[in-house]
Amino acid sequence: MTLSTSDPYLSRALELLLKNLPKSPALWVKPPSGTRIPCADSSFYQPWYPEHQRLLRDGNTAWTPGSEFSNAVVFGGRHKEENVQLVEACRSRGPVHFLIPNEYGAKSYRKLFEGALEEEEVGRKSRLMHLKQSPKSPPQPLVQYRETLPGFVSTPGLFCWDKPDKGSELLAQALAEEELKGPVLDLGAGWGYLCKNLPEELELHLVEADSRGVEACRRNLSGRPATYHWADATEPATLPPNLLNGVHTVISNPPFHTHKQAEPILGGAFVANAHRFLRKGGRFYMVGNVHLGYFKLLETFFGEVKEIVRAHGFSVFGAVKR
Ligand SMILES: C[S@@+](CC[C@H](N)C(=O)[O-])C[C@H]1O[C@@H](n2cnc3c(N)ncnc32)[C@H](O)[C@@H]1O
Repeated sequence: MTLSTSDPYLSRALELLLKNLPKSPALWVKPPSGTRIPCADSSFYQPWYPEHQRLLRDGNTAWTPGSEFSNAVVFGGRHKEENVQLVEACRSRGPVHFLIPNEYGAKSYRKLFEGALEEEEVGRKSRLMHLKQSPKSPPQPLVQYRETLPGFVSTPGLFCWDKPDKGSELLAQALAEEELKGPVLDLGAGWGYLCKNLPEELELHLVEADSRGVEACRRNLSGRPATYHWADATEPATLPPNLLNGVHTVISNPPFHTHKQAEPILGGAFVANAHRFLRKGGRFYMVGNVHLGYFKLLETFFGEVKEIVRAHGFSVFGAVKR
């Protein structure tokens, strides 16, 4: 999800926050791009690779996992379980300032944080809640991985975090019928569902923009010949250069939207990079919503394209690089 400080809710919320800044160095959790963290000793935690890079470019300091902090500013997103987990992990270390837009159900957090709420500032489009430190000890890890399905751990905030989506299931079934050759590159690997279902001996490269997804993949595929890349699948420069024109198989269930809008362009960048990283004769397998019209897009890059299966509103395509 890409937010920026020019979003009306955030600019207003930041105004509220700036009136009431934490006195001591704080961890800023998931700040949107454009944020300039005012306190020099403060740092940020942003699991989304492109945003992480932008925040670094803006001159902010990245938090080093394991290093302690005594208060936090948490920027809430759409996913309630994720917000609550991050806030609670931070509250186990010190007070938390939690910013949440009204459109993400800001009011409902009042009840959830009852007892912890010291003060609440209500803006036009968002709320800022000041929460007390919780008596929990020892401090909780910032991200907690739980078993969701046999053999899989995941964490709230990842795409379909506790069960695969229909499109991924359809692609996994189609891949089981194909004879695949490695190395295999998975663009947008999530928590590793597609790769885990591939034959054990295949060399795997998993690319994911969310660092929590990368860590979940690492745990879910431990013992397999796999390499994990925290990178932006739309930016070839962030992908491993040694794989360029080098992989036999690319698989992907590409994202089709950012913050709010459907963005077929995002899927287009995944297709272009799949083509770039395949060797001649290599195969690309992807799934997408039928209405997104991926067939035409694939045809512009690949010599040979076929729809392998269509069901539940999804199409699985296979394409060969000529
Ligand atoms: C539709 S999900 C598929 C996840 C997984 N492959 C599965 O089948 O369950 C798309 C994945 O792409 C990741 N993603 C989105 N934009 C990305 C980008 N620019 N670079 C790398 N990964 C990205 C998302 O975080 C998400 O995990």
